[in-house]
Amino acid sequence: MLNLVLFGPPGAGKGTQSQKLIEQYGLIHLSTGDLLRGEIAQGTELGLEAKKLMDDGKLVPDAVVIGMISNKLDSNKDGKGFIFDGFPRTVAQAEALDSLLESKASAISGMIALEVDDDELLRRLLLRGKDSGRPDDANPEVISKRIHEYNDKTAPVAGFYKNQGKFKSINGIGSVNEIFAQIHAIIEAWLKD
Ligand code: AP5
Repeated sequence: MLNLVLFGPPGAGKGTQSQKLIEQYGLIHLSTGDLLRGEIAQGTELGLEAKKLMDDGKLVPDAVVIGMISNKLDSNKDGKGFIFDGFPRTVAQAEALDSLLESKASAISGMIALEVDDDELLRRLLLRGKDSGRPDDANPEVISKRIHEYNDKTAPVAGFYKNQGKFKSINGIGSVNEIFAQIHAIIEAWLKD
């Protein structure tokens, strides 16, 4: 089973590359951002609470996202493996994910980080904000807050997987296919191990 953490700052291309990984490997895509937006669309209490934080570029509490992921792992009995997109975003989330997978006799295969500079992130998200309907893409101030949250709370998660010898990073600038070719090469090497 292949359990992949796709990592990188807001706008790095995690969602875009996830679609290519689903096509190639049939993995189950678990995006905490998509799950939270689903809760908002349904108008649940969790969604209403999360929306305030998301619209302000802040992270949702660990317990909320860990609970959502836990439910999704339980609902999948015969999957080929998961792409974790936008999760884990704190070291506490990474520790919880390890425990959840361990309880199912599974583990993370590896993390692949997409490296993209802040100017390019801002450019991509402002461009998408014009028609994505995502309030958190709407203005440079909120995008900057999201990048700040990433540098402050999420970047240390890379160290968590480095310590386990499970970390790879690639240049996330270039065409979608060029970037996917690098991801594909890393995964094929993991699968041969
Ligand atoms: P989330 O939905 O996870 O958003 P994000 O991490 O900010 O990432 P994005 O979806 O904006 O970017 P991406 O890296 O997926 O890039 P994409 O492929 O879309 O989280 C939203 C919010 O939810 C958070 O701020 C937080 O509040 C909350 N949240 C979610 N998970 C949480 C957690 N675990 N803990 C706590 N809170 C959580 O691409 C971006 C754009 O760039 C697109 O327009 C795309 O077409 C374009 N693009 C992609 N690749 C390229 C390329 N190679 N060249 C040029 N353009 C490209």
